[in-house]
Amino acid sequence: MYYSEEIIEEIRSQNDLVDVVSEYVRLQRKGSSYFGLCPFHNEDTASFSVSPDKQMYYCFGCQAGGNVFTFIMQMENFSFVEAIKHLADRAHITLPQPEYSEEVRRKMEEKQVLLDIHKEAAKYFYANLRSPRGQQANEYLNKRKLNKNTQKLFGIGYSNMDFADLYQYLLYKGYDEALILKSGLVIPKKKGKGFVDRFRNRIMFPIFDVHNQIIGFGGRVLDDSLPKYMNSPDTPLFDKSKNLYGLNYARASGKNQILIVEGYMDVISLYQAGFENVVASLGTAFTQQHAFLLKRYTGEVIIVYDSDLAGTNAALRAIPILSSAGLKIKVVQVPGEKDPDDFIKQNGPEAFQTLLDQAMGAVMFQVSVLRKKYNIEDTEQKIKFTIEVAQLLSRLDNEIERDVYLQEIANDTKISAQSILNEMNKYKAIQRKNTNKINIYSKKIEAQPQNHLKINKESSNIDEKNGLYKAQKNILRFLYNNASFYPKIKPHLSYEDFIDPILKKVAQLIYEQYDKGLNIEPATVINHFENLNEQKQVSLIFGEEKNKSQDYDIEKAINDQLKLIKRANIDKKSRNASDIYEIQSLIEQKKQLEKLYINLISG
Ligand code: GTP
Ligand code: MN
Repeated sequence: MYYSEEIIEEIRSQNDLVDVVSEYVRLQRKGSSYFGLCPFHNEDTASFSVSPDKQMYYCFGCQAGGNVFTFIMQMENFSFVEAIKHLADRAHITLPQPEYSEEVRRKMEEKQVLLDIHKEAAKYFYANLRSPRGQQANEYLNKRKLNKNTQKLFGIGYSNMDFADLYQYLLYKGYDEALILKSGLVIPKKKGKGFVDRFRNRIMFPIFDVHNQIIGFGGRVLDDSLPKYMNSPDTPLFDKSKNLYGLNYARASGKNQILIVEGYMDVISLYQAGFENVVASLGTAFTQQHAFLLKRYTGEVIIVYDSDLAGTNAALRAIPILSSAGLKIKVVQVPGEKDPDDFIKQNGPEAFQTLLDQAMGAVMFQVSVLRKKYNIEDTEQKIKFTIEVAQLLSRLDNEIERDVYLQEIANDTKISAQSILNEMNKYKAIQRKNTNKINIYSKKIEAQPQNHLKINKESSNIDEKNGLYKAQKNILRFLYNNASFYPKIKPHLSYEDFIDPILKKVAQLIYEQYDKGLNIEPATVINHFENLNEQKQVSLIFGEEKNKSQDYDIEKAINDQLKLIKRANIDKKSRNASDIYEIQSLIEQKKQLEKLYINLISG
């Protein structure tokens, strides 16, 4: 980890959870806890609780939960390190400066100056727009119905007609010529020495990164001249293939999906209409890096492109890229040769919401494109269509989803579901043959490590419904709530017996605390996990107990669950055991295990 456990714990203890949450949620005290409306889902009864003792929050409605880091990560869509920085700042704790090499430090300093130059330039463009020089630009923005508040939020400005207006200003501000050139905001004169501004007489759109820092600009002409848009070139700050316009707002919008549109104006216009979860890839093709960037902030995207050929092709190209990052994809085609900006201005936000509600799944979109490509009245084309559709559908893992599509297509085309299925089976047979070839080959190479692969897969199983996972979770929960039983459990179940890697780590932390005679601080345990999902998973162990069962039931349940874990461990060892004595010993252990019963209540 980047920071030491001590400093992380210091930051946590200096940020009281009740105070931090109160900055976002109105809390009311009820008994030993505070309650309020959950900020992570819509509700009108307060099921969001904060425990000052545990320094944990938990929502009975949506099961969100964790410590102060989890809260800030969820609320602000921050990474763990970002949350640490934020909360350190809030508590006026100075984080230790990491040690950097000379080379790295020089680069960081350069980057900082480039950021300053961009900020200065943005302020300059912004002031221009509001000065008499910006009158035409102002009229243009009014014509495009961007209100003042939106203009301010997106930092929209105007670059002057003059040749070296910004350049002179930056020099005057004391920036080094070489760095001004590196910023991409000026270009060398075609003739003679010196530089001129890259952007002249254009509406200026600052491009923000996810930390709200300006890393580049887009500039639009005020009329129909070409090129319509000009963007900053790639610089040490700006890489088009890695940044998405609008992501700084979209990631904090608290929505479940992110909309992907084509242009600056689409993002801004949708934002103004209340759709804050929208990004644009700025005219460049969608890259794998864009997809992974999005995946950090959302599980689902809706591609909202024009319905023309270019828009359709762009969507078709983006689908496999987004899908390989594990994103769920839907597609909306804005009707009538319009882009989202035109559409929403003409038809309003409700109509746009209706478009979103009717978004097609990616596969159905691909099918609909095929449907237009082929004339299925023609037998030969109908066969081709069927083959391509079958290939598409056979890529779907989910059988229910596949059957729904199959039925829809059959209804629509009058091609029988059975003949599409037949095609799919043919296609699958070919696929199987290919994978078999690969399997035989890989078996030869790694006959040995195969077992490891199996175990790894098993041990990272976090399926909540899985009985084995539940058993591990319940035992930990029991140990946390009943410290006095720890000495009785420990001889029969070591923390290494836990199978899920996350729960094993939690078990280790709990065992270590108890061995030292200390109490468990749930929020401190959570500190050891950086990933938001892991934090949520861990916090469920320490959450409120729903219904208290009878003592006898608990004792039996704990025994059953402990045995389930032990048995899984023995099974795991048996699969790896090679020598006959080891196997015999494992069989014996299993026998003994069946006889085990720990008396917790009766002493
Ligand atoms: P408006 O006409 O202002 O509504 O533009 P738009 O936002 O609808 O953009 P359009 O659909 O024409 O293009 C989508 C995006 O592609 C723009 O936002 C730009 O990022 C980029 N783009 C468009 N035209 C050009 C161009 O001439 N050069 C470059 N480099 N990029 C462009
Ligand atoms: Mn447009």
